[in-house]
Amino acid sequence: MDGMRGRFVVLAVTGSIAVYKTIELARRLVQAGATVQVVMTKGATEFVTPLTFQALTYRPVEVEMFAMQDERAAGHVAMGRQAEVVVVAPATAHVIARLAHGFSDDLVATTVLATSAPVIVAPAMETHMWRNPATVENVARLRARGVRIVEPETGPLASGDVGPGRLASIERIAAEIEAALSVSGALSGKSIVVTAGPTLEAIDPVRYVSNRSSGKMGYAIAAAARDAGAEVTLVTGPTALTPPAGVRTFPIESADDLKDAVLAQLPRADVVVMAAAVADYRPIETATKKLKKKDLGSEMTLRMTENPDVLTAIMAARRPGTIVIGFKAETGEATAEAGRMLREKKLDLVVANDVTDPRSGFGSDEDRVAFVSADGVEQLPVLAKTEVARRLVAKLAERLAR
Ligand SMILES: Cc1cc2nc3c(=O)[nH]c(=O)nc-3n(C[C@H](O)[C@H](O)[C@H](O)COP(=O)(O)O)c2cc1C
Repeated sequence: MDGMRGRFVVLAVTGSIAVYKTIELARRLVQAGATVQVVMTKGATEFVTPLTFQALTYRPVEVEMFAMQDERAAGHVAMGRQAEVVVVAPATAHVIARLAHGFSDDLVATTVLATSAPVIVAPAMETHMWRNPATVENVARLRARGVRIVEPETGPLASGDVGPGRLASIERIAAEIEAALSVSGALSGKSIVVTAGPTLEAIDPVRYVSNRSSGKMGYAIAAAARDAGAEVTLVTGPTALTPPAGVRTFPIESADDLKDAVLAQLPRADVVVMAAAVADYRPIETATKKLKKKDLGSEMTLRMTENPDVLTAIMAARRPGTIVIGFKAETGEATAEAGRMLREKKLDLVVANDVTDPRSGFGSDEDRVAFVSADGVEQLPVLAKTEVARRLVAKLAERLAR
């Protein structure tokens, strides 16, 4: 755990049996040179005493919000302000629900609400609680706000069941803390435009031609770039997703709208990431009134024309030095196609995605992609889209630093 020395980590502990693992996490963070301020819910103190953490971190452990009033200025929010990262581990279903709704009725919730530092939440609970739609919704809310969720692992649980819900390993939580501390700021001062989702090409006022893009990849990239300190503009086709907080969002429908929106943002962009699935063709004519079946008969022919190539337009209009990244989703031979796209369009990098892999591609939370650039082909394993996004942002930071 390099990079921990001198960092101020607030470790928020809640009432789960998995708390015994957090004791070891606290010990390792202190050993790595971090200052670890533990704050516990009352529930957590039913499982382990504050004294345990106090002895390991050499700092008084905070539990009582109202006891802090005898401190000087705003003691109850001081920890959130001082924190370089706030880690809630283990996070109960109860605390996740409270954080999702912005509660501030104890010191853990108030600390999270009062901080502008990255927040990491490592859930631990019994499988049914984890899968309950209430928890699923609450976790999604936190994620959409930029909270980093360290997914629980699958295995035997304290309840005797086997399933997802075990607190992530100490190594994974520590890696997330390191990522939050080091990645943060890697793109600060940079402006990035990300496109996401499908485009819609209207046939008439009620029908359209579109594709299966969910927007998850583009939204994850926007969130990762924001976490790295970039000023992010998200140009998005219609999706079922909540745009990440702290990101300027421009909703669009057609490929033409998307091109106009990106070109308008281009003068200030240091980076453009084209993760949207832009339609290659659109209907030649869009009817102004709904086409009627009785007029069409038993067959309908839709004549389509090629859309303007957005990447070509961007490459022609970009400032010298603006990095442009393309995406190539293919059913087979994705890497070779990406290489061709890289050369023909003179892009800086293409993310190749073979959508025939059942664990990868449209709608999935995971992807198996390759980064294709002049440096060669870097094939990644199956990863969460959020992790692919983080690695892409790390690559961008590296390129911008060159
Ligand atoms: C033995 C025991 C183990 C528990 N383990 C968990 C757990 O792993 N995850 C969880 O969400 N709740 C667990 N609970 C329930 C929480 O402790 C309870 O919801 C409590 O109100 C949480 O409060 P807090 O989030 O403020 O700490 C457990 C309760 C008991 C009695």
